[in-house]
Amino acid sequence: MSRTALITGGASGFGAEVARQLVRRGDQVVLLDVDAHGGQAVAAELGGHFLHCDVSDLDGVMAATAQAEELLGGIDLFFLNAGISTGCGLGEDFDLLAYRRAMGINLDGVVFGVHAALPVLRRRGGGSIVATASMAGLTGIPSDPAYGANKHAVVGLVRSLGPALAPHGVTVNAFCPGFAETKIISSIKSTLEASGVPIIPVDAAGRAVLQAFDSRETGQAFLLQAGREPMIYKFRGIPGPLSESGEQVRPSDPTGVPTG
Ligand SMILES: NC(=O)c1ccc[n+]([C@@H]2O[C@H](COP(=O)([O-])OP(=O)(O)OC[C@H]3O[C@@H](n4cnc5c(N)ncnc54)[C@H](O)[C@@H]3O)[C@@H](O)[C@H]2O)c1
Repeated sequence: MSRTALITGGASGFGAEVARQLVRRGDQVVLLDVDAHGGQAVAAELGGHFLHCDVSDLDGVMAATAQAEELLGGIDLFFLNAGISTGCGLGEDFDLLAYRRAMGINLDGVVFGVHAALPVLRRRGGGSIVATASMAGLTGIPSDPAYGANKHAVVGLVRSLGPALAPHGVTVNAFCPGFAETKIISSIKSTLEASGVPIIPVDAAGRAVLQAFDSRETGQAFLLQAGREPMIYKFRGIPGPLSESGEQVRPSDPTGVPTG
């Protein structure tokens, strides 16, 4: 069955590759990006649509999502993927503007994308969201701590939204790749290669995202390492609370937080 997809960061890298793979199997796409030149080129290649949209601007995201819904007659899949590296630490090299920009794109962009997607998916009777986090959302990244914070936040968001959206027939998962062959690593690619770090081919990343869309899983982090199949990252459960007498208690928590 052919489906329709909205893709942020669709002008290059993972976004463009996922668009190509979806169109190859008969789906329709609308690409959102701040790179109009690249976005229009990919849309023209695929017979899709391009909309200029800065994902850190809530009004812009709401308007572009509404326009995409009209163009496609409804949307089944949201790939909330636009992102940037931060390029600053928290010491003397701290740069407030760079920090705010990264938070705006990497985290607000996903939050705004989900907020805009929910009524669209409700009208459709359900659907799937995949948000691009990173392996930096599962482990520390000393070279870019703000990026690590953004991406951990995306994983936390998805883990919380999974059970919250399940009753509405909406799955939401995070895509967590290691270093992959896209523009974002261009400034560090030679260092990675010199250190022997294997780089994930972009088509393998695209297949992992389609797998996340097609799975029945929700609230999960799909980890992709070079040379491996995509896998669901298993978080350790947290130890439950103990009563005053030292016994395990299993209270029913109205906030939905698992208590052990
Ligand atoms: N390539 C990797 O090694 C890697 C690893 C882990 C996670 N990621 C994540 O993958 C996602 C996609 O990046 P990529 O690797 O394809 O790199 P990329 O640079 O090729 O693509 C990112 C796209 O996002 C767009 N974009 C940037 N700011 C935007 C904004 N404000 N509004 C809308 N679009 C905007 C860019 O124009 C670009 O087309 C990002 O979230 C990135 O953090 C990448």
